[in-house]
Amino acid sequence: MPRNTVARIDLDALRFNFELAAAKAGSARPMAVVKADGYGHGIGAVARALATAAECFAVACIEEAQAIRAEGLTHPVVLLEGVHDQADLKTCLKEGFEPVLHSSVQVDWLISEQVRPVIWLKLNTGMNRLGFNARELDNVVERLAPREGLIKGLMTHFSCADDLDNAETAAQTEVFVNVSEAYPDFQRSVGNSAAHFRPGQALFEWSRPGIMLYGATPMISQSGPELGLRPVMSLESELIAVRTLAVGEQVGYGGSWTAEKPTSMGIVAVGYGDGYPRHAGTGTPAWISGCRVNLIGRVSMDMLALDLSAVPDASIGDKVELWGAHVGVDEVARHAGTIAYELLTGVTARVPRLYSE
Ligand SMILES: Cc1ncc(COP(=O)(O)O)c(C=O)c1O
Repeated sequence: MPRNTVARIDLDALRFNFELAAAKAGSARPMAVVKADGYGHGIGAVARALATAAECFAVACIEEAQAIRAEGLTHPVVLLEGVHDQADLKTCLKEGFEPVLHSSVQVDWLISEQVRPVIWLKLNTGMNRLGFNARELDNVVERLAPREGLIKGLMTHFSCADDLDNAETAAQTEVFVNVSEAYPDFQRSVGNSAAHFRPGQALFEWSRPGIMLYGATPMISQSGPELGLRPVMSLESELIAVRTLAVGEQVGYGGSWTAEKPTSMGIVAVGYGDGYPRHAGTGTPAWISGCRVNLIGRVSMDMLALDLSAVPDASIGDKVELWGAHVGVDEVARHAGTIAYELLTGVTARVPRLYSE
């Protein structure tokens, strides 16, 4: 019998969240960001589920784009990190992948190749991660001009859109608008999930929602459900041991938690080897038999402990939700000092993904 630690993926919720992104994007069209194995949900299943609604997908690299083609899907696929060598450009042309070129090295590769894939150019408006500065862009466009029709669009990425009080997004948008005015034929894309929730934020022709599709929050101040999103992944396991700890008894590695009263305690078959965060400390919530309970002690590779005081009848085999509909992945992430992006993409290969419509 298999270990009952699974990630249930609700594809209806995924589609619901995509529709919400589309509604928030207004006249912009959302390209569904499905990199990092569909944020841990399985890129093939996610792309298939969104195939009718989404006109375009975005991924980090060519292997991920090929995983979409392996599903028989023919949508344009934008490569957000561009290409990693010259040969990739031929693959882009053949497969209909649209790399986002961000460095002069990539432009050199393109010029020396005799192929003309559709490309995007990345403008650095202040994040200072990837992209050409405003003054470099003219030169790049000029170098590529003899290859007419090659450049589809101009893209930038916001560094602080998750924080509604931060002025940086408006400043980046202004730089983008000023630069893009010189290129009226280029399609434009600026916003990831957070930008969909910024009142008044222009999204131009294409938005790029990622995390919101999976129901987790892109914002620092509100959870996914508070933004109207539906959780897509439910990480579930079960109790494999139950015992009562006497006053003074400790639990787990390092004995970091000590019972101050007789305490019913359960061991769940999930740990950091499954992607449950080791930094989630005592007090991180989980859900069992209709009740919230708390994690106690340190998370092990394959197990963790719960204080079962709130569910005295709990027994071996009872289902436990680590995150999902009752305990938000955003909340668990906060307890672990991280973000839901890391938790969702970190669920390991040994956890089967079970899909439902
Ligand atoms: C360039 C780019 N666009 C869009 C996204 C999607 O961002 P989010 O998941 O915050 O919506 C990412 C994610 O990292 C990205 O790097």
